[in-house]
Amino acid sequence: MSESVRSLPEDRLLQPTTAKWFGVIFGIALCYAIVRYHFVKDVPWSHFPLFILNKATSMAAVGFVASAYLIGKLFRWHDHDPVLRLVVVKFCGLAGFSLAAIHALFSLALLRSSYYPAFFGADGQLSFVGELGLAVGVIALWALAMPAITTLPMMPQALGGFRWKRNQRMGYIALSLVVVHLTVFGLKGWLDPASWSGMPPVSLVAVLVALVPLLTKLSRISGKRSKRTQRTTEETPD
Ligand code: HEM
Repeated sequence: MSESVRSLPEDRLLQPTTAKWFGVIFGIALCYAIVRYHFVKDVPWSHFPLFILNKATSMAAVGFVASAYLIGKLFRWHDHDPVLRLVVVKFCGLAGFSLAAIHALFSLALLRSSYYPAFFGADGQLSFVGELGLAVGVIALWALAMPAITTLPMMPQALGGFRWKRNQRMGYIALSLVVVHLTVFGLKGWLDPASWSGMPPVSLVAVLVALVPLLTKLSRISGKRSKRTQRTTEETPD
């Protein structure tokens, strides 16, 4: 190991492990978008810089946010090193928020009926689907900003433990809103597998990824509840 790598502070966000996380999640999203749209669907390469990169960016954003809530719960790779685990969780949350913000800007730059005919009516205005999907997306981005801002070092002390934890849990609300955002935009395509050309749409892959931490959280809550009920029943005298 070189001297410069060894001297990195332990809690530095950018380090070899987080770089690997970025490479894997963004790499998978980018390869999926390129293969599905350029190779399978024959979208011209002139649309790579914004239209296709937007698909990869939005898919990776969901992957990072989901990972932030799964590391230490479903993904147990960093359990031997709590400091590194916290750094990776923080990195995934912030990368997810940053990529979601980039996706929002990319989408607004592209927003016209020639790119997204399904979101516009014959009068050239946004349709109900277009308005609803965008509104939910904007609120999801706001909800993601809450846990991102509270990762700043002074925040746990400024907010206190309970409020800080509540803000961190806003990510679950954001993921639920993302599920709605994707369902509004994608449902029609999901129900028409003949149009997939063998590869499910990015919105369907992303919604399945977003559902993993949400279902994991629900099963943990219901597990805790049933344990509490069991304990109360055992403690209650006959
Ligand atoms: C200001 C906020 C947002 C705006 C304006 C926005 C806009 C859009 C638009 C226009 C699409 C359709 C793209 C397409 O079909 O190519 C889309 C799809 C998508 N959005 Fe958002 N979005 C926002 C927030 C978010 C957030 C916070 C996430 C996740 C963290 C997200 C994840 C996705 C994903 C995964 C897709 C599916 C892409 C696809 O099917 O190709 N969006 N969004």
